Amino acid sequence: MVALPLVALLMALQPWPAAGADADADADADADADADAASPVALPPAQTSGRMPLEAALQQRRSVRAFADAPLTLAQAGQLLWAAQGQTAADGRRTAPSAGALRPLELHLVAGAVQGLAPGVYRYRPTRHALARVAAGDPRAALAAVAHGGQQWLQQAPALVVVSGVVARSAGRYGERAERFVVLEAGAATQNLLLQAVALGLGATFVGAFDEAALARLLVLPSGERPLALVPVGRPR
Ligand SMILES: Cc1cc2nc3c(=O)[nH]c(=O)nc-3n(C[C@H](O)[C@H](O)[C@H](O)COP(=O)(O)O)c2cc1C
Repeated sequence: MVALPLVALLMALQPWPAAGADADADADADADADADAASPVALPPAQTSGRMPLEAALQQRRSVRAFADAPLTLAQAGQLLWAAQGQTAADGRRTAPSAGALRPLELHLVAGAVQGLAPGVYRYRPTRHALARVAAGDPRAALAAVAHGGQQWLQQAPALVVVSGVVARSAGRYGERAERFVVLEAGAATQNLLLQAVALGLGATFVGAFDEAALARLLVLPSGERPLALVPVGRPR
C-alpha cells in the first residue's frame, strides 16, 4: 500500500498542475476516457501521401540536436504521432506492428511551442486521432533535467514525443517475452516517427538516456507504464 504522505509529496514536486492524472490508469486507455474531458483536441486528418519518397527519408535521416526557434504546426504534430501509432485499420491496427496486435504502446506529446495547443503534456488517442491533456504548463526545462548527461539541448525543441509501454498488456499472452516485445515495438514506432520527421522537413533524435522513474513522474504516467523513448522534434537550425 502506498502511504498517503508520499503521494502528497510527489504531487507537490510536480512542476505544473496535473489534470486528471489518474483517469488513464485503465490499461487499455484507448477505449477512451479522456484524461481531461474539458480539453480534448482533435488533430487535423493525417496525410497518407507526401512529397518525399521513403528512400530519400531513409537516406537523409540524421539525429538533429539543434532546433530553430520555430513552432510546430498542429498538423505536423499530429502527423508525427500518426506515423508512430496512428490507427490504419478499422480493427484497431496501427502504423507500427504489434505482437499479437495487443498494442502495448502509448504516446505523449510534450508541447512547448505547437500552434493551436496550450503548452502541456498530451496523451495521444489513436482511435480518435486526438489529444487529451494530462498536465498544463511547459515542462521542457524539467524534462531536459531528467535526461542523463546534461542534455540541455532537449529544451530547445518545440515539442517532444515520449513513447511508453505497458508490459502487462502483452504479458498475458507472451509471458517473459513481453518485455522484449514491448521494447521492440517502441523501436519500430520511434523509427516511423523519425522518418516522418524527415519527410516533413523536420529533425529529431532518438533519445534513450533518461531517468525513467523521473520522466514517468513528470508525465504523470499511470503505474505500469514505462517511458522507453524520448524524441525531440523541430525545424533543424
Ligand atoms: C536506443 C538509442 C538511444 C539513444 N540515446 C540518445 C541520447 O540519449 N542522446 C542523444 O543525443 N542521442 C541518442 N541516440 C542517438 C544516437 O547517438 C545516434 O543515432 C547515433 O550517434 C548515430 O547518428 P545518426 O542518428 O545521426 O545516424 C540514441 C539512439 C538510440 C538508437
